[in-house]
Amino acid sequence: MSDYTPRPEDKFSFGLWTVGWQGVDVFGPASRELLDPVAATYRLAELGAAAVTFHDDDLLPDDAEREATLTQFRKALDETGLVVEMVTTNTFSDPVFKEGAITANNREVRRYALAKVLRNIDLAASLGAQTFVMWGGREGAEHGGSKDIGAALDRYRDALNTVCAYVKEQGYGIRFALEPKPNEPRGDILLPTVGHALALINELEHPEMVGLNPEVGHEEMAGLNFAHGISQALWHGKLFHIDLNGQHGPRFDQDLRFGAGNLRGAFWTVDAMLGAGTDRRYDGYVHFDYKTPRVEAIDGVWESARGCMRNYLILRERVQAFRADPDVAAALEAAGVGELREPTVAPGESLDDIRNASYDLVALRERSVAMEALDQLAMEHLLGAR
Ligand code: GCO
Ligand code: MN
Ligand code: MN
Repeated sequence: MSDYTPRPEDKFSFGLWTVGWQGVDVFGPASRELLDPVAATYRLAELGAAAVTFHDDDLLPDDAEREATLTQFRKALDETGLVVEMVTTNTFSDPVFKEGAITANNREVRRYALAKVLRNIDLAASLGAQTFVMWGGREGAEHGGSKDIGAALDRYRDALNTVCAYVKEQGYGIRFALEPKPNEPRGDILLPTVGHALALINELEHPEMVGLNPEVGHEEMAGLNFAHGISQALWHGKLFHIDLNGQHGPRFDQDLRFGAGNLRGAFWTVDAMLGAGTDRRYDGYVHFDYKTPRVEAIDGVWESARGCMRNYLILRERVQAFRADPDVAAALEAAGVGELREPTVAPGESLDDIRNASYDLVALRERSVAMEALDQLAMEHLLGAR
């Protein structure tokens, strides 16, 4: 059996806000001490991570200490070899953003939000980050009629056009990744799913600079299939980044460690990331956006961070074994999975060829699809029974 020790080449990455979450929820205050983000960086390196990510406010909550903190943080990066692969902006905590940031009805708020994002893009570039995530947690509404959705999408589009133009003008090597979420903290959030976000990207001046950062829990909260969501993002060439965590079906955003919650979904997520038998695979950082449950003390925080990485490595091994198993190859064949890759109308064929063909409908209705057998093989690999 493998030792499942995370290594830098596995490209694991953690948000500093994940291990830093103090357990504040709507029913009670912090249950854990404040974790120094620089100390967290050292600890994540020891655990085998390759990168960290952060919101401006996670690392630099205090403007007066900005330069001193940055110096310490850069030293931690140098000493550990960790990189900052992604940076994101907090445009949701400050009550100034209570009614939205770049799509707030209030124009002054929108201008302030854009200025905060632009400043953070400069920081991201100075730290060598290649991805800049935009999660519009407060872009949404609770009240019907309170938001002109078309105007909000106009402002979303304008803001994305502005930041893309800025990055081009500055010559930064940064791409943007939109993070969909259906609700929480707003009653309903704009760009609720992967599909909604993809559609907005098509309306931009530089669509090639903007992709997605889908999160397991966000799609599953809406009852959607995450592996299908990221497979579609890959098909569009838009899986720029990923937020892995765990979720038990449609309820609040649980942010469990990766592998907890919907374990079968996690198996297919890893399979989709590895290409699911195709060459459309995800080659970016394996980024975790989870929260250690409030019940845990600091030992539980590091245990859950370790668990995210170990579960990914275990699932990767199980997925690779599944894909390499000759019985699975035969089951895929029996289920006709490869046949779907053949065009329905072959080049050179006419529509009359399909109109005039004879179809044995009785046989087609009765045919075996052999999918239970395929799924059982996956289950047995996942359970370690093969
Ligand atoms: C959430 C989101 C956030 C974002 C983060 C990056 O549900 O709170 O997942 O954690 O990923 O703000 O922009
Ligand atoms: Mn989330
Ligand atoms: Mn997230």
